[in-house]
Amino acid sequence: MTEENNYHMPETPEPYWRESVSFPSFPKLEEDITVDVGIVGGGITGITTAYLLSKKGYKVALIEAGKLLNGTTGHTTAKVTAQHGLIYDELIQHLGEDKARLYYEAAMEAKQFIKDTIEEKNIACDWSSEDAFVYTNSDKYVSKIDKEMEAYEKLDIKGGIVDDIPFNIPIKKAIKMDDQAQFHPLKYLKPLVDSIIENDGLIYENTTASSVDSGDHPIILTSNSHHIVCKRVVQASHFPFHGGEGYYFARMYPSRSYIVGVTSKESYPGGMYISAEKPTRSIRSTTVDGEELWLIGGDGHRTGEGKPTLEHYQALEQFAETTFGMDEYKYRWSAQDLTTLDKVPYIGQVTDDQPEILVATGYRKWGMTNGTVAALVLTDIITGTDNRFIDLYKPSRFHADPDLKKFNKYNAKVAKHLIKGKLEYTSTTIEDVGQDEAKVIRLNGNRAGVYRDKHGEVHIVDTTCTHMGCEVNWNNGDRTWDCPCHGSRFAIDGAVVEGPANKPLKKLEE
Ligand SMILES: Cc1cc2nc3c(=O)[nH]c(=O)nc-3n(C[C@H](O)[C@H](O)[C@H](O)COP(=O)(O)OP(=O)(O)OC[C@H]3O[C@@H](n4cnc5c(N)ncnc54)[C@H](O)[C@@H]3O)c2cc1C
Ligand code: FES
Repeated sequence: MTEENNYHMPETPEPYWRESVSFPSFPKLEEDITVDVGIVGGGITGITTAYLLSKKGYKVALIEAGKLLNGTTGHTTAKVTAQHGLIYDELIQHLGEDKARLYYEAAMEAKQFIKDTIEEKNIACDWSSEDAFVYTNSDKYVSKIDKEMEAYEKLDIKGGIVDDIPFNIPIKKAIKMDDQAQFHPLKYLKPLVDSIIENDGLIYENTTASSVDSGDHPIILTSNSHHIVCKRVVQASHFPFHGGEGYYFARMYPSRSYIVGVTSKESYPGGMYISAEKPTRSIRSTTVDGEELWLIGGDGHRTGEGKPTLEHYQALEQFAETTFGMDEYKYRWSAQDLTTLDKVPYIGQVTDDQPEILVATGYRKWGMTNGTVAALVLTDIITGTDNRFIDLYKPSRFHADPDLKKFNKYNAKVAKHLIKGKLEYTSTTIEDVGQDEAKVIRLNGNRAGVYRDKHGEVHIVDTTCTHMGCEVNWNNGDRTWDCPCHGSRFAIDGAVVEGPANKPLKKLEE
């Protein structure tokens, strides 16, 4: 397909967002410090929380394992919407109408907060109001869309049913949510970073939190053995690096999705779209130097599982070609997000007995609004301000049905991954690994991952994930070793690319 059409897949996955904003670099933490609030994670959650608290006069330190906004926030699609797929009928069924309404209102307040902040600070971040659509071509989902519409009516959500969308996609029905939005996430967050500095906040990059000692004055310990003594810790690290006895690893699962950025001779008709059924297809556009860039996303799957990564990009390319005809294939990138058992994020105290340690995670690929909700809720918890959403997101909630069934199924899967790779036999040897290729081999009786780079140099790692011991698999799209259990990802030399693991894979010698 790619060859026939002469579209060349960009060799390296780079999100469009990063290219168009330049960020200052921040130092590594090289001393012990004392602040009011230590915030771990430089994505939308950590930055918005640091911004809000520093504005209120709190002394904050924000630490980031890599570069700011290089995690999931830097690889998002950046729709700012309360239409989180088909969710409201399900929330009414499982949590009741009041909580479903709160969920909607929290997302809408987050959208409004972002809009107000843009206006207040006069931020040029390509914000545009758009209607959001979930569409289907499957009979099963037609009835789900009808039920979702009933939920919209119960919850006073403005929208309606439509029978067509302006693309060459066969559909049976779609549901529209009026007046949602999209933006450029890094252009929006850069002025918030500037404000943190202006408000005397501290920001450190290349600084990884490895553990927390809880207590009245909790201490964040970094991997280079420095201490951040504070009154509160906010874990905005996507997957919490300190779960306490909260068992987060068993209550969330990671899934990856892919995005391609392409140009077309057709002009974009407006709106933001996502399919109800799998494989998911998400569509929006943005303007780059006066030219429309179509962002096509989807093809998600559990991290570390599924078909070879490049095939996901090819599936999106094929979809783009048949849907609106591609002109040029400009970008590709991928990222992962976490889903909780009841699809509502965990925001609040990490466990009931550690009030000073807070967490925000599990946004199910809707973190522009959910991450902003988290920042607003956590700020209110820290400042002791009433917030009507606190109970909805409380991480210690447990809804026995249908959570329990999913809980058991998910953990059985993790258990399978824990032993599967260890028993697997392979006769592959290092000589069988071609250039820019990776394979799993047995080296001195142990499972080892071998990658031979474009210069012929071989990089060997122990494939046992340093988080909890599952076996990592090769991701040929991003050239990383990915763990199917809780989503940790490692570079070819074993360095951590994405947590919860905070130790590298062991390097092995031939
Ligand atoms: C493909 C894709 C498309 C998406 N599209 C949308 C969309 O259209 N709209 C929407 O609302 N949402 C979308 N999302 C979801 C959204 O992007 C995420 O939910 C959100 O960006 C998560 O933000 P975060 O701040 O929690 O995490 P991140 O942005 O990942 O930030 C966490 C940071 O913590 C750092 N970190 C981790 N561990 C440590 C440690 N131990 N010490 C120090 N630092 C650490 C990481 O390096 C990272 O930079 C999408 C997600 C994906 C995967
Ligand atoms: S075992 Fe948990 S991420 Fe690998």
